[in-house]
Amino acid sequence: MRARLCPPAPSCVAAGGIRFYVRTSAFTASKRTRVHIDRFPRIGLAHLPTPLEPMPALSRALGGPDLWIKRDDCTGLASGGNKTRKLEFLMAQVVDARADTVLTPGAVQSNHARQTAAAAAKLGMHCEILLEEARPDGDEEYARSGNILIDRLCGARIHLYPKDTDLDAEMAALGKSLRDAGKRPYAIPVGGSNAVGALGYANCAAELLSQSRALGQDIDLVVHASASAGTQAGLVAGFHALEANVPVLGICVSRAADAQEEMVRSLAGETLALLGTAAALPRERVQANGDYVGEGYGIPTAGMIEAVELVARSEGILLDPVYSGKAMAGLIDLLRTGRVEHCRNIVFVHTGGAVALFAYRSTFDRHGGG
Ligand SMILES: Cc1ncc(COP(=O)(O)O)c(C=O)c1O
Repeated sequence: MRARLCPPAPSCVAAGGIRFYVRTSAFTASKRTRVHIDRFPRIGLAHLPTPLEPMPALSRALGGPDLWIKRDDCTGLASGGNKTRKLEFLMAQVVDARADTVLTPGAVQSNHARQTAAAAAKLGMHCEILLEEARPDGDEEYARSGNILIDRLCGARIHLYPKDTDLDAEMAALGKSLRDAGKRPYAIPVGGSNAVGALGYANCAAELLSQSRALGQDIDLVVHASASAGTQAGLVAGFHALEANVPVLGICVSRAADAQEEMVRSLAGETLALLGTAAALPRERVQANGDYVGEGYGIPTAGMIEAVELVARSEGILLDPVYSGKAMAGLIDLLRTGRVEHCRNIVFVHTGGAVALFAYRSTFDRHGGG
């Protein structure tokens, strides 16, 4: 591995239309690797810390820099993923509220719903999942395999709704009918993305700093898929609370960059308030790129298919078609077009979701390979 080589750089630079807040050195600027997370109620659900691994073959295939992968696909709960970190804090609130039933919304292939169903099963609670048929063109496997299969295996009760249904309103109505029936329901928001859930990713920021320090490597850029915003908000808030100026780039999978940045900024602010960090978050710390969404949420792109195949064939790592595949497609394109060439170490946070590959079999069949 390359030694720590990054020269200190003082400020915010523009590179190929992306603004990067360049750190002086995450490694040296922050001696802290712990946010004071221990004071928040938490239930251990995830295998932590997740590994931070090099991807030498992928780095070679793309002509460098050093690419690293934070294996949050390995958090362990019913095949893992980023929601498990959030659920550690969210489910503690559910238990604290003495609830007996967890409600949460998502799309048919929601990884959040799957991990919530598994967490509820583990804690002996009922789980009611409200799923939007986000891809009416989806085939039988999309409708029945992948995440939704695991939801059912974990004993969740599934409610299906047509695309564009107001799931929050449906969740409120379902909560009322459960209460009327004598249950004690607790609603977890879409993606587990509120300030409490985002604590899980503030903790991940601390983990990354501690791992980069142990490896003797600076992190020049963190890249990951950004949707309901909790992952990015937690990472940004965590690094800020730790006084580590590590740039985080969220690749959008469901909306335009401006709207995504607004969501992340607002939730990062709430998360910092919860953490008790007074220092205001500089606006430029929140960066999103909306160029890789394609035709919409969950709709395959050529870049996603190439990314999933390339990472599987070079590193034996499975990305997913909806989130990490599109995020990696973005990173590959940014590398190929020289827009991140100032970076020596880039960390891709693998947020999980590979079980959805089985729901997208026909997409990969159609595009051949192997
Ligand atoms: C696999 C995967 N990656 C990334 C994300 C995006 O995370 P967030 O919703 O916290 O922005 C999700 C959210 O559902 C996901 O399931």
